[in-house]
Amino acid sequence: MRISSVRAIQILDSRGKPTLRTFITLEDGSIHQASVPSGASTGKHEALELRDGDALTFAGQGVTKAINYVNTVIKQILIDKDVDDLKGIDRMMIDLDGTDNKSKLGANAILSVSMAAARAAAYASNRPLWRFLHDYYFQKMTPGFPRLMVNLINGGKHANWNFDLQEFIIITTSTEPSFSTRVAAEIFTQLGQTLKKQGFATLVGDEGGYSPAFSSNEQAYEAIIDAAKAAGYENTKDYELAMDAAASEFYENGEYVLKRDNRKVSPQDLIKYYSELGQKYHIQSFEDPFEQDDWASFTQFTQMAKQFHFQVVGDDFTVTNPERLEKAIKEQAANAIIIKPNQIGTISESAQAINMAKDAGWKIAVSHRSGETEDSFIADLAYGSGADFIKTGSMSRSERLAKYNRLLEIEAGM
Ligand code: PGA
Ligand code: ZN
Repeated sequence: MRISSVRAIQILDSRGKPTLRTFITLEDGSIHQASVPSGASTGKHEALELRDGDALTFAGQGVTKAINYVNTVIKQILIDKDVDDLKGIDRMMIDLDGTDNKSKLGANAILSVSMAAARAAAYASNRPLWRFLHDYYFQKMTPGFPRLMVNLINGGKHANWNFDLQEFIIITTSTEPSFSTRVAAEIFTQLGQTLKKQGFATLVGDEGGYSPAFSSNEQAYEAIIDAAKAAGYENTKDYELAMDAAASEFYENGEYVLKRDNRKVSPQDLIKYYSELGQKYHIQSFEDPFEQDDWASFTQFTQMAKQFHFQVVGDDFTVTNPERLEKAIKEQAANAIIIKPNQIGTISESAQAINMAKDAGWKIAVSHRSGETEDSFIADLAYGSGADFIKTGSMSRSERLAKYNRLLEIEAGM
């Protein structure tokens, strides 16, 4: 079916910052939309998110330039094109942009069209989005529900006052959404009650996790284990523990600066610290444990992971970029990858990264950003690609729950 119109508008994300919502109209008059998320602990190798930079409006965060590109040059090349040819549509936008990191038109502009086109193509072929994505990009995979990586305690840039480590996470053992969301929600609720009883604040950070004034990382894991126990769930049986260190955020001149503990550590000491913490609490998955260009530490830690069977996950390190991923696979610098479509700017390139990682035997975690919208696209992407995990925040804030709720819908056959 052919595209008859493309139009973007400015909406606001979960932090009150502008972002794009794009509408694609097909020749039968049907309209299909998508909205793009935005990160806070953004990797320096990510594609460029185009913002206006006009200090008087939205503190420079407006996206009217990106919107203009969608409504003029991108629209012009897509009118009358067949929406089924998503790879062709993405390719045309990449060529029109012409830069390595989508810095001319903006990855946010391009992705909003790429996502809306995927929804329109799913409609045109009379399939749910996940089925379309599966059949178009992931024929080799079996659609399947991901385990939930639930960020129960928020630190780093997402809470901005307590921890250096950004996220303390549980990974549900179950993949069945009606059960996995229940486990996570019961632990989340119990954790809130435990914190309250101990006199800690139960305010939540950007991704819906609690952000208490704990004095150590250990305290965070212990609180989670205790709350889970009180809710009837056991570490390593019903869930596993994980972290997203987002270590680029606390890296300075070759050292890692742990403000909370008031110390600077070398990469070697950080590895030792992770190993001790990992053994003590059975931490199964370490996301961005090192700075985004600290290849040596990533490689060394991944070598250790072979023996001790834990996950080393690239996020800022790999930025959903097939080129960086290829190098990381070759150097065995991680064994799992975060997939965030806005790090690279098109669904086709995100799918390419998923397929490459899968072929290399890596695990896949499809992920939200800290600045989100009510768009649940990543739930369909995770299910349709048979991703191992979905990472979409804690069990609060509707922009996070929208993704869990979409998995529940898919499970119910809706
Ligand atoms: P971001 O954080 O969306 O702020 O980059 C999420 C993450 O690091 O996984
Ligand atoms: Zn991360």
